[in-house]
Amino acid sequence: MRLLENHSVLITGGGSGLGLGVARHCLAEGAQLAVMDISGEKLAALRAEFGDQVLLVEGSCTRVEELERCRAAVAARFGRLDALIGVQGIFDGNIRLADVPLERIDGLFDELFHVNVKGHVLAARVFYDMLLAAEGAIVLTSSTAAYAADGGGVMYSATKGAIRSIVHQLAFEFAPAIRVNGIAPAGIANSQLRGPAALGMQAQKQSDIPKDAFLAKFRSISLLQELPTPEDHGFLYAFLASRQNKLVTGQTIVVDQGLLNRALLSAELPNKGG
Ligand SMILES: NC(=O)c1ccc[n+]([C@@H]2O[C@H](COP(=O)([O-])OP(=O)(O)OC[C@H]3O[C@@H](n4cnc5c(N)ncnc54)[C@H](O)[C@@H]3O)[C@@H](O)[C@H]2O)c1
Repeated sequence: MRLLENHSVLITGGGSGLGLGVARHCLAEGAQLAVMDISGEKLAALRAEFGDQVLLVEGSCTRVEELERCRAAVAARFGRLDALIGVQGIFDGNIRLADVPLERIDGLFDELFHVNVKGHVLAARVFYDMLLAAEGAIVLTSSTAAYAADGGGVMYSATKGAIRSIVHQLAFEFAPAIRVNGIAPAGIANSQLRGPAALGMQAQKQSDIPKDAFLAKFRSISLLQELPTPEDHGFLYAFLASRQNKLVTGQTIVVDQGLLNRALLSAELPNKGG
């Protein structure tokens, strides 16, 4: 049996990058799927790819009323929700704290924490009753930036650390009915992760970094040598979202291709090229 047969699944922030790859995988695993995203343009591309197969809801996870509108649409279409997968996020441009102009610091903090933290807490609260009724699951998205320095600036890293804490706390509060877990990826190919508007960097995207340079950097620091695609993460999300996972809750799985288990004394990988 496929992992998500007879499951209704909502992906927030599923318009591009990781969330879109997870969406494709969830469909392949048999899910009845809804995607909520702030970008109407991205949702139009999803409509072209999926047609009416996927329920598409435009809105921001930072607004309760827009999440409530999404809940009403999910309830009308599927009558239930078995899994909430939270993927939305933005980046802080990897800026050092000392380089943030003091007059921008409030705005930068609020922008990052609104999308990357508040958006997930609000979604968990708004969909709580539906998930409780279905004895469902929540899967949130952290990052290796929550585990080691230099995965982002202090704002981004702090938001991703917050996701780990939210996973711990909600797994406790929502047990035993709802399983709550997280995924902490490292680098991802085809990501459109944008910079902060508070620093005027909202038009910058991770995909602007030349592919070869990004891949070379990634290979120089990680044990496994493939830069994963969004779809490569799909199985883990689908497993944690599935009722077939009866054992795991309160965990954030680090999906880092060995990045954090890097060599301390050797500059080269032992078998590189051999
Ligand atoms: N790109 C990476 O290398 C990487 C590494 C580790 C973790 N992550 C995390 O993965 C997640 C997905 O990032 P991605 O790289 O696929 O970027 P992405 O920009 O391609 O995807 C993020 C999606 O979230 C949507 N979104 C943004 N704000 C929203 C809001 N308020 N409400 C609803 N939707 C909103 C965007 O429109 C976009 O479709 C993020 O949480 C990111 O922090 C990314």
